[in-house]
Amino acid sequence: MKIPELYRKNNVDKDYTSIGLFRELRKRYDIAKVFYPGCYVHIAPSLVFANVTYADSFRSTYKFFDSPDTHEYIEQSKEYPDEAMLKFYQQDYNKPFIGLKDDFDLVISQYAGFVGQSVKRYLRYGGLLVCNNSHGDASMASIDPDYKLVAIYRRISDERFSISDKNMESYLIPKKGVLPTKDQLAKTMKGIAYTKSPSGYIFKKVDDKDKN
Ligand SMILES: C[S@@+](CC[C@H](N)C(=O)[O-])C[C@H]1O[C@@H](n2cnc3c(N)ncnc32)[C@H](O)[C@@H]1O
Repeated sequence: MKIPELYRKNNVDKDYTSIGLFRELRKRYDIAKVFYPGCYVHIAPSLVFANVTYADSFRSTYKFFDSPDTHEYIEQSKEYPDEAMLKFYQQDYNKPFIGLKDDFDLVISQYAGFVGQSVKRYLRYGGLLVCNNSHGDASMASIDPDYKLVAIYRRISDERFSISDKNMESYLIPKKGVLPTKDQLAKTMKGIAYTKSPSGYIFKKVDDKDKN
């Protein structure tokens, strides 16, 4: 089966589809609706989850999502019986998304800036933000009272990821002993160093009664 060219070049050939992460998330959590801003052509979530909304501002990315090749590939490779439902917004994720509600179960943030902050309103309470810290999104979530760390993930290979919710208090401890500030993270767009460095983090969006 033909892998869409851009996805092959950007994700498959680099052994960076993270398919193992999406499979682990599906196994472990109750996830129906997924939102992936800053996705570029990373369509691996649609192989595991039936309902995924994507967004990216990079010019002409919509052509990839409109292409019959993309839809055919997902149709043939998906790991669920339901029909694949995917939607793509060609837009800056900082701008309002027309037609979206606050009912997403999962927001994916991978190498695309402060996604967890910009689209927080679309995540339901109890919904999950899965992010890494390369652009500082995890550091930002760690100082945001609306988010609570519930698990971390480790990449063993592209197909194999592990998720752990043990000893959460031992993560996100700054190596230098000082918590980052929002301004500092916004300026550097880089996460700070922690005493432990898993591949990524899973935060839950909490309501007022869940905050401590
Ligand atoms: C390094 S790529 C990562 C793509 C994908 N997340 C992956 O892991 O393969 C970052 C993407 O985020 C998009 N991006 C960055 N800031 C954005 C914004 N404010 N609104 C929409 N897309 C954005 C870029 O256009 C780019 O396609």
